[in-house]
Amino acid sequence: MNPSTPPENWDRAYREAPEIFEAFSRAEDPEGRVVRSLLAHAPLSGRTVLELGYGTGRYTRELAPQSGCYLGVEPSPTLHSLARRACAGLTPTPFLLRARGQALPLRAASVDVMIAAWVVVNLRPAIREAVQREAARVLRPGPGHGLWLIENHWNSQFQRCRGRGGEDEARLRHLIEVDGFRMVETIATKLRFPDAAEAERVLGYLCGEALLARLRRRPTATLEHRVVLLHRPV
Ligand SMILES: C[S@@+](CC[C@H](N)C(=O)[O-])C[C@H]1O[C@@H](n2cnc3c(N)ncnc32)[C@H](O)[C@@H]1O
Repeated sequence: MNPSTPPENWDRAYREAPEIFEAFSRAEDPEGRVVRSLLAHAPLSGRTVLELGYGTGRYTRELAPQSGCYLGVEPSPTLHSLARRACAGLTPTPFLLRARGQALPLRAASVDVMIAAWVVVNLRPAIREAVQREAARVLRPGPGHGLWLIENHWNSQFQRCRGRGGEDEARLRHLIEVDGFRMVETIATKLRFPDAAEAERVLGYLCGEALLARLRRRPTATLEHRVVLLHRPV
């Protein structure tokens, strides 16, 4: 992490307070625009889909039922257990594996669509490159096929409040200018909490003191949030 970027507590929340992350997930994109947009660009019906870094399985729950066959990899044992519970009973049953994106336990050319939501931008450069090499190995060509990334746009109220805009812009620009991703859509959405106190509780925990101080100065239950959809074909 860049030393000028304020420290945040997402990993701690996954380990110690998953209910905080669940509260964040409920607030994020309340109208479900991100999933709708992804499915409009990359229909999953009949396709073999691989989700990289499924976390608590919040996207797995929505996307697996749309697919022909759904696989996921996630290195964290805690998140793997949470996701397995959250995804019990889905059809088709998602195969949730404990593995890393840079060493996929899959055959070459065995996946149509690969999806990574809020994973790739935060990987260290060497790992990010290895993940992309693995993606190129396991993906097979076809319309809508390839690697789809969901990430934060750098210019939104949420990113500005976190003090993350500059660093995330540089990382996204690298994906576009060096790694060959195309920015397919910018999705205007929101973080909408039940009230301002809940926004403080959840974002204060996850994003730390600087953001908490802003929310205390100007209490709000809703923050503007922009999400980008990036794509790289096989
Ligand atoms: C910000 S979370 C996003 C989780 C989930 N995609 C979501 O949107 O809720 C980042 C996820 O990437 C996972 N991750 C980190 N390094 C990874 C790697 N090398 N390969 C696959 N997943 C990784 C983390 O364990 C975590 O679940």
